[in-house]
Amino acid sequence: MMTKEFATRIQATSQTGIEDLIPDPDDVTISFAGGLPDEHLFPQAELATSFQRVLLKGTDNPLQYHNAKGYLPLRTYLQQMMAAEGTTVTLEQILLTQGAQQGLDLVAKLLLNKHDKVAIEAPTYIGGLAAFSAYEPDYLEIPMQADGLDVDLLEQLLTTNTIKFLYTVPNFQNPTGFVMSLAKRKKLIALAKKYHFIILEDDPYRHLRFAGEDLPALQALDNSGHVISLGSFSKILAPGLRLGWLVATPDLLTEIRLLKDGSDLETPAIIQQAVTDYLVHNDFQAHWQKLQQDYREHRDWMSAALTKYLPSGYQFSHPEGGFFLWLMGPNNVNLEHLLREKIAPENHVLFVPSTNLYARKNVCNCARLSYAGATHEQIDRGIQLICAALTPELEFSK
Ligand SMILES: Cc1ncc(COP(=O)(O)O)c(C=O)c1O
Repeated sequence: MMTKEFATRIQATSQTGIEDLIPDPDDVTISFAGGLPDEHLFPQAELATSFQRVLLKGTDNPLQYHNAKGYLPLRTYLQQMMAAEGTTVTLEQILLTQGAQQGLDLVAKLLLNKHDKVAIEAPTYIGGLAAFSAYEPDYLEIPMQADGLDVDLLEQLLTTNTIKFLYTVPNFQNPTGFVMSLAKRKKLIALAKKYHFIILEDDPYRHLRFAGEDLPALQALDNSGHVISLGSFSKILAPGLRLGWLVATPDLLTEIRLLKDGSDLETPAIIQQAVTDYLVHNDFQAHWQKLQQDYREHRDWMSAALTKYLPSGYQFSHPEGGFFLWLMGPNNVNLEHLLREKIAPENHVLFVPSTNLYARKNVCNCARLSYAGATHEQIDRGIQLICAALTPELEFSK
């Protein structure tokens, strides 16, 4: 097909850079690029037992079509889990999705016409940009600060801009690892009410806090129907399940469900039923605690390696949960260039340069490093290699 026949959306989606995140595996590359969980902690045997039990003894027809709402016992489990965390919702407000990623697509599909405005954190999750860009919005980039996006700037912009929604990852943000403060959460909800926009709360790392205090979800703080929130089993169970959930008011959810019908009819019943069986037969909280401990150790290894090897002029964040650490270099360093020209081909180490994490692709001196999926040895070796490559760049760019 000739490219001029493609829809206009392809121009934006073909430039997101999301394909670089998870290259085909090889034996030499150390990757801090993709947000891959530690695969040693997938509860493989327990999930195998659950799949077998559901297939051989299940009474809810796991191989049949069902409907787009999702498996009732799983929605009930999630409703109770959220209630324990301070979010009260009805079963009619929960939709099972194929990962949080599908939720991003469905919400954009629900709300965006071409050139509608969306406020996003800058930097932001690359998959958010990939999902939204297909609907050709105009982005308002709101800079990230250590306690969440700059809500004062957002407020200023809202006096002259109408936005359809604001997209945020409030906990252990992808890519910075920052957490939005309680004060900013409350202010954001007040702004959503005043200026009539939806807050799209994407929260897949919520249960992976390994230091500090949990903060209430935006969904829990809102009593006015302005928040759509997304959760996921990807980071706390396994991403191969492709299972997540979306929470919204019943009227929004009805429309979203119709869009899901048109997209994939439903989230696979067998996956929903096997995960429910897993949740019934295993101590899920104990599993999270193991993950939290593991990721704290990974974070510590990466922090220690960076402290040891990083040349002066660079800084990095110290996340209290999640998968990501944010590396900030001097303004005149181009980490994307360095990655493509040197670190990937010669040192065989990967990370995500900041360029593609900004809608305008105008910040090149930062990088996202994922500590979650690599072993301690890989972390130490990979960071050493990256830092050795950074040192001449710094001298060169003086
Ligand atoms: C912030 C954020 N949202 C959504 C996703 C996609 O998650 P899922 O696997 O549930 O689709 C990710 C995955 O890395 C993520 O970091």
